[in-house]
Amino acid sequence: MASGVGTTRPLLVRGGTAVDVAGARRADVLVVGERVAAVGPHLEADGAEVLDAAGAFVIPGGVDVHTHFDLPVGEVRSADDFESGTLAAACGGTTCVVDFAGAGREPPEEALRTWHARAGGRAVVDYAFHLTVTSVPEDPVAARALFAGFAAAGVTSVKLYMAYPERLMVDDATLARALRAATAEGVRVCVHAEDGLEVARRQDEARRAGRGSPADHPGTRPPEVEAAAARRAAALAREASAPLYVVHLSSAAGLEAVRTARDEGAEVVAETCPHYLFLTADALAGPVAEAQNFVCSPPLRSDADRRALWRGLADGDIQVVATDHCPFTRRDRARGVADREEGWADFTQIPGGLPGVETRVGLLFQGVREGPLTLERWVDAVAGAPARLFGLGGTKGSLAPGTDADLVVFDPGAHRRLDAAALHSRADHSPYEGMDVVGWPALTLSRGRVVARGGEPAGTAPGWGRYVPRSPSVTPHGR
Ligand code: URP
Ligand code: ZN
Ligand code: ZN
Repeated sequence: MASGVGTTRPLLVRGGTAVDVAGARRADVLVVGERVAAVGPHLEADGAEVLDAAGAFVIPGGVDVHTHFDLPVGEVRSADDFESGTLAAACGGTTCVVDFAGAGREPPEEALRTWHARAGGRAVVDYAFHLTVTSVPEDPVAARALFAGFAAAGVTSVKLYMAYPERLMVDDATLARALRAATAEGVRVCVHAEDGLEVARRQDEARRAGRGSPADHPGTRPPEVEAAAARRAAALAREASAPLYVVHLSSAAGLEAVRTARDEGAEVVAETCPHYLFLTADALAGPVAEAQNFVCSPPLRSDADRRALWRGLADGDIQVVATDHCPFTRRDRARGVADREEGWADFTQIPGGLPGVETRVGLLFQGVREGPLTLERWVDAVAGAPARLFGLGGTKGSLAPGTDADLVVFDPGAHRRLDAAALHSRADHSPYEGMDVVGWPALTLSRGRVVARGGEPAGTAPGWGRYVPRSPSVTPHGR
């Protein structure tokens, strides 16, 4: 098989089944330089290096719009930096990540400077940033100027937290101002939809009752806490005539809240994550040393929630699957965010989040193998929709001529065991330990360059990945 590494010759990916928003069809893909030059049957190109994709799917590289690389959380930090995180992404068929810049209430320009310094020269595949917003000026002109500045820097989406009162939570008035001003400037508003005050009340109650183990975590953040926040955010969005993006939707109740809001006229897009599709709260019930590795927020749910999310994904009510990749080592999990020698005092001190950037594309393909997803839904959820929704539609997430040659040749028969030892994240545990999947990327190309082969690094170079300034994520209005 041809390498394509460092070559200036055209590359012809021949004989595969191309899948993207244009459908699934037998088509060759011609790459010239860093871009797709043509897609169609029986392409020929003089002097091209030919790559045989017979029996494989040729899909746009995955776009993961929810990662947390190199993120400080209390006294610990997420285990993957931009080098290991994007390397893991490449091995699993993801060629562009949108990472959340900002660790807390630092000014956005400082967050952006810091994140550029962390990613620059290290990333293996392309990257972009969202910003975390914790305050919005009351003066509408100043508010719009804030978001116009983000858009000018290529940051056309922000996240506001309705949870974490101690660090990040905003009130409804702030969220309403953000929805109005951001939309006017083409910036998409994403929300972490959990009612933070209700979570805090339940956490206090749990502490007082001596319920502090990982198994007690979901009870402090039940589905209704997510649904209530989603309803509130959607009502504000509707009032502001602004679209809303709900990140990491985890429950049937949350999904129902999104559906109802849409029926009532709100424009709400929903994202879920592989861990809510494949795992349940049972993972939190075992011995603490293992259970602590499954703490994330929103928490893992019931099997009924998991099934409802699959249905929502299949029927298009959930548009995006992103990872919320936020791994921590076993050691950091055990010590906790307060970094106490004796370890965390209760589950609220366990750094939250799971690894996922490498396993997302392959895991979601199981939805095709097992029935609920069509090939097109799979590719749209992991690549097409996230690119279109986040201002990357002109360059990523499709096979259209002129877009970046971010391609995955996906072998539907390849077996992969999802143990930490077989993966490339610096997390030393995998939520899917012992699980075998069938279907894995045979080859990942980033802008025409092979960066992974057979799920292993190949020709990867830190610094090959570039910052991608994004176009508007929503149609600007209200100016
Ligand atoms: O537990 C999680 N998900 N940590 C990452 C931060 C967030 O809320 O997305
Ligand atoms: Zn969140
Ligand atoms: Zn997150």
